[in-house]
Amino acid sequence: MEKFVVTGGVPLVGDLKVSGAKNVALKIPVAALLTEGKLEIENFPVIRDGNFLLEVLQSLGADIHLSDHHLEISCDHLKTTTVPLEFGARLRTTSLVLGPLLARFGEAKVPNPGGCRIGARPIDRHIRALEAMGAEIKYNPTDGFFYGKTKQLHGAKIRFSKNTHTGTEAIILAAVLAEGHTVIENAAMEVEVNDLINCLNQMGAKILRTKERQIDIDGVKTLHGTKHKLLPDRNEEVTFAIAAAITNGRITVRNSQRSNLTAFLDVFTKSGGKVTPIDGNTTTYARSEKLIASAVATAPHPGFMTDWQAPWAMLMTQAKGVSSIHETVFESRFSYVRELVKMGAKIEFYDPLVINPQDFYNFNWSDRQPDTHQAIKISGPTKLHNAIVNIDDLRAGATLLLAALSAQGTSYIYGVEQIDRGYEKIEEKLRTLGAKIKRVEEESI
Ligand code: EPU
Repeated sequence: MEKFVVTGGVPLVGDLKVSGAKNVALKIPVAALLTEGKLEIENFPVIRDGNFLLEVLQSLGADIHLSDHHLEISCDHLKTTTVPLEFGARLRTTSLVLGPLLARFGEAKVPNPGGCRIGARPIDRHIRALEAMGAEIKYNPTDGFFYGKTKQLHGAKIRFSKNTHTGTEAIILAAVLAEGHTVIENAAMEVEVNDLINCLNQMGAKILRTKERQIDIDGVKTLHGTKHKLLPDRNEEVTFAIAAAITNGRITVRNSQRSNLTAFLDVFTKSGGKVTPIDGNTTTYARSEKLIASAVATAPHPGFMTDWQAPWAMLMTQAKGVSSIHETVFESRFSYVRELVKMGAKIEFYDPLVINPQDFYNFNWSDRQPDTHQAIKISGPTKLHNAIVNIDDLRAGATLLLAALSAQGTSYIYGVEQIDRGYEKIEEKLRTLGAKIKRVEEESI
């Protein structure tokens, strides 16, 4: 197990390139299961969750070559339709193979998915939609597997009761080879979904966004291989924008995608962040003298994404006034608060008055634990100091790393494998900006 040792208080200055987006890297390789042709993927990030996904595909018999962010996958000789149990616990998107395996082989045995600990995260919406397409899916709680079978997946009209990002992708991946026409209503609008759609259309699929929140898919008989370059990671860009602001530095991000970050850039500039476009895909981030408190509520795209709320909370510890953050997508995504408070942050939990919480929140209200809260108030600015902190999910990890970079003194961050799930060599990127950060084995601290 490794730790980060970070001495904070250094303004981060310089430029860097963000990597390929984790949240497409965990989906697009699954499309290789739908064809006997070769899928070539460029800009594949070297992150732990990416490796886990490749192991899932390898366990099914996929032939995989990854070299210098260039990935080649061939699924012409798959050997099984069963994914081993341990993969389910490691990675939530393991379950995405269900649709493609059912479409191509008529059967699949897939473990119940795990992933980051940010709530119950069931896949009930995915399963109901696959059933509407003619799949019979049974969950066996004794062995932890979903057992799926079908004579032939067929098109269907699917209306998600609530937004689901990966659920939308699961149904797209199932519908491209299904017989007939599928309509997904209340489909997720995340730009990462569009990257999957673009790749599948290059493979011969017929997928169209026909209206706001509606996707229409005409099933085709076969798909062929293609070459596709992954979208850059907008969540990584946000992390570096905040790193520039909290350290009073100046970071230029290449592979930047301002048009997919409108909700973030809007509140960032209103709160005192400085955004300087250099060209179409290069942006410099810094801050003005004073940061100002803000009120944000997370929402599916095009809203303020839940993935930004933890680093945003860190930024708001440095802003003047009382900020609030209302998390509406996940029922439990404030694990970093306890650790930030250890470092001197002033944060309190509260529950905003919501008239119809069952419908209002994106998570299933029944999954909520009695002792959780949906919102925090942050009073700032506060000088943060060093601490020994523990991470238990990806964005919480990035947040505590940001906190350590801005704090006085040397902090020790335990659980860095959570950060490695979604950030490629983050400490190396930070070091090029002047950060004092070391990755060390636990024993050598
Ligand atoms: N949900 C259900 N049942 C379902 C599907 C979703 O209850 O069948 C709940 C979830 O538990 C959650 C809410 O509905 O409370 C929204 O879930 P959604 O399906 O939209 O999220 P996701 O697909 O599980 C992806 C990203 C997340 C990102 C969200 C929102 C991937 C691998 N993960 O999660 O990314 O926060 O969409 O955009 O794409 C991250 O990168 O740190 C991360 C967690």
